[in-house]
Amino acid sequence: MHEHDVLVIGGGGAGLRAAIAAHEEGADVAIVTKLHPVRSHTGAAEGGINAALREGDDWELHAYDTMKGSDYLGDAPAIETLAQDSPSETIQLENWGMPFSREDDGRVSQRPFGGLSFARTTYAGAETGHHMLHTMYEQVVKRGIQVYDEWYVADLAVTDHDDPADRECHGVVAYDIKTGQVEGFKARNGVILATGGTGQVYDHTTNAVANTGDGQAMAYRAGVPLEDMEFVQFHPTTLPSTGVLISEGVRGEGGILYNSEGERFMFEYGYANNAGELASRDVVSRAELTEVNEGRGVEDEYVYLDMRHLGEERITDRLENILHLARDFEGVDGLEEPMPVKPGQHYEMGGIETDENGETLIDGLYAAGECACVSVHGSNRLGGNALPELIVFGARAGRHAAGKDLGEPEITTGKTDDIEKETDLDTPVEPGAVGASEGDAVADGGAAVVEPDETVRAAVERERTRIEQLMEKDDGIQHAELREDLQKSMTANVNVFRNKEGLKQALEDIREVREAYQDVYVNDPSRTFNTDLIHTIETRNLIDLAEAITLGALARDEFRGAHWRQEHQERKDDEWLKHTMLSWNEGSPELWYKPVILEGENKTYEPKERSY
Ligand code: FUM
Repeated sequence: MHEHDVLVIGGGGAGLRAAIAAHEEGADVAIVTKLHPVRSHTGAAEGGINAALREGDDWELHAYDTMKGSDYLGDAPAIETLAQDSPSETIQLENWGMPFSREDDGRVSQRPFGGLSFARTTYAGAETGHHMLHTMYEQVVKRGIQVYDEWYVADLAVTDHDDPADRECHGVVAYDIKTGQVEGFKARNGVILATGGTGQVYDHTTNAVANTGDGQAMAYRAGVPLEDMEFVQFHPTTLPSTGVLISEGVRGEGGILYNSEGERFMFEYGYANNAGELASRDVVSRAELTEVNEGRGVEDEYVYLDMRHLGEERITDRLENILHLARDFEGVDGLEEPMPVKPGQHYEMGGIETDENGETLIDGLYAAGECACVSVHGSNRLGGNALPELIVFGARAGRHAAGKDLGEPEITTGKTDDIEKETDLDTPVEPGAVGASEGDAVADGGAAVVEPDETVRAAVERERTRIEQLMEKDDGIQHAELREDLQKSMTANVNVFRNKEGLKQALEDIREVREAYQDVYVNDPSRTFNTDLIHTIETRNLIDLAEAITLGALARDEFRGAHWRQEHQERKDDEWLKHTMLSWNEGSPELWYKPVILEGENKTYEPKERSY
């Protein structure tokens, strides 16, 4: 059994920042990651880091923009922490050598992004995430932090107490992708999940193939609530054939959206009369699809994003990467032609419920970054707010897990007295584990184990058995077929535009996939680099998360942020100023709600009509 003070699961932006912070507090920390850190999906983040660095800007403006962008579903203590700590975290990156783009006078450059009242998105060309990853990985190497790369964490080692609030996390079980060994990793102080997003639930996404929501699914099955999963961000500018991201930085620099009639539709049809192309993402994505649905799309599918007027010098200086992406993945020369774009899944606003210190309901288990929901994004994330979330909350989780006192959090986790239970959701099929009523074990385990070493050993045994069972079968259905069915249904039914019928259809489809998963088998018998096996395990995670997204979406009968409902065309603050919570209650998902916190440090954020 491997043993460290702090285990960080995932080597992307949040994971690297957490590891550095824990190490600085004196902890023996290790990163366990299914990818080499610099191959993590943070490397695909193009746009930038929102940070109030300049005169005329301040954290309160950043916090206000973020709360408005969230459509008043973000929690003020989390949003204010993000806005307050982002400048120092950004300067820390700069001090570590991150090659930010700069003005002639030497200051780091900032540009406008959607929904911002000040041009505060700090960037490094259109490869900000790539440079962030490399900058932090250098610090990890410099500090000698141990990295177990190409180890797939398949489960958490959590005690089997009946009440999830009594459980403790003592480590993880990981599968060595290179050799096929399954081994235990014990964490003396804490495990930090930093496993990124859930994009593979959809078939048109900017997310990497690795983004299968492993952390969310493992935490959920161990008893930690998932929060606000129905809020999925669809980025307005992705390449139609692949989903590859074309950064909002293009519009930040002055790029223009046109429909097939050559009209600048954001203004022409009044979608956003002030901000136009720089309205927030939910608004722009709906506008594009409305254009297509009303017959003004190109090839009935997409619209155009034009940056030619910016000129070659400015484009190659600030957006060079975009030229490469458009040429390599769509065969379009962005200097000579407009680029075809359409909305694609980009980000999961919801995730593992945490407080401001990254702590979850289960003692010793933390989460940070996209897999977590603290919540800073509410129902719609602003562009440029993901990267600061990684570094601000990654650092906090790392410090806290290493033992630093960060003070009492204002956000509580788990059920409190003022929660509300969902009692009348009409689902067409029974959600949750197949045969859950026959006694699915509470912590995805079985034995009543509580002692740390024993907890890790029991989890290892369970996982070895599960893998052997998957490998023994030589017939059945393959994960790729199940994934495809799941992704197609989610894309058709749980997309930018949603209605009751489609959401119910998705639940039926997910149930079918879940039942078919009982017959899944692994075709590749090898123990070395068996990606067939890894993808099969990941597919179970995708099923649980697709269901979590859809259940929350069906229950929320209002229109807020990225969650548009055909039958419910208004935001219903009287009823819905609350977070959707989902607990895996012995294999049966239980929906409940907790209030949003709108009281900030110096003011209460009053929900207003949101227009751009
Ligand atoms: O458009 C972009 O460059 C993406 C940025 C983000 O998601 O924050």
